[in-house]
Amino acid sequence: MTTRKIEIAGHQYTVLEQEDVYDSVTGHPLTGSWLWNSSLVLSDWLVTEAHLHLFPLNGKNVIELGAGSAGLPGLTAARLGASRVFLTDVAPILPGLRRNVEANGAGEQVEVRELAWGSEESARGIGEEFDVVLMSDVFFGAEEARELGKTLRGLCGERTRVWAASEVRDWTGFWLEELGREGFGAVELAFRLGGPGYEGELVGEGSFVVYEILRMAQNEVAQRSWLESS
Ligand SMILES: C[S@@+](CC[C@H](N)C(=O)[O-])C[C@H]1O[C@@H](n2cnc3c(N)ncnc32)[C@H](O)[C@@H]1O
Repeated sequence: MTTRKIEIAGHQYTVLEQEDVYDSVTGHPLTGSWLWNSSLVLSDWLVTEAHLHLFPLNGKNVIELGAGSAGLPGLTAARLGASRVFLTDVAPILPGLRRNVEANGAGEQVEVRELAWGSEESARGIGEEFDVVLMSDVFFGAEEARELGKTLRGLCGERTRVWAASEVRDWTGFWLEELGREGFGAVELAFRLGGPGYEGELVGEGSFVVYEILRMAQNEVAQRSWLESS
């Protein structure tokens, strides 16, 4: 286990990371066992820019999907005054996530819950509309996009804001198209270049985008599928 001290806009967070952790059932690496650079970008953006979108986090009900064991954006939302924050991920990640909530003394505002995308059963335990949904580095396969789309539909009401940060990779556009088929569009809110010195951290060499994910109206979804099939 490695302990990192991460500074976001002048506040220090403790992040406990585990290396090379595998799911005992599938044998796949548990990618949420360590902190991804997009979560630094999203956390910093929440402090420095989210309020510019006329939506300060103070008093809001927030959920982070695929939070990993660090849940840094959700912890940042709690520090910015969110009234309640759910940090969610698949079951094997949750013990590490609980340790990080504890290490940051955030237990009063923050709850850790299992939420596997697309699973109605695990969403039932959470089951309500949120003011804000956060996601960091969760844009991977087409199947995940479909499952995530289902989960987002259950969590989002008329006024829910969904903010997601991702490193820009070859498949990012393709992933957003998949999410579009599930009825969600993406608007780019901020672009960050990686490199040394970003908020005292080394944020890779890539580039990162913070998106707002918006639910499309039914007619837009229908029009889109018509255009794709014609
Ligand atoms: C690349 S990691 C990012 C972790 C964290 N958000 C960060 O930025 O440091 C992707 C996360 O998505 C979670 N994830 C992947 N598929 C999932 C699914 N079907 N349901 C819930 N979480 C999932 C993984 O467990 C992992 O924590």
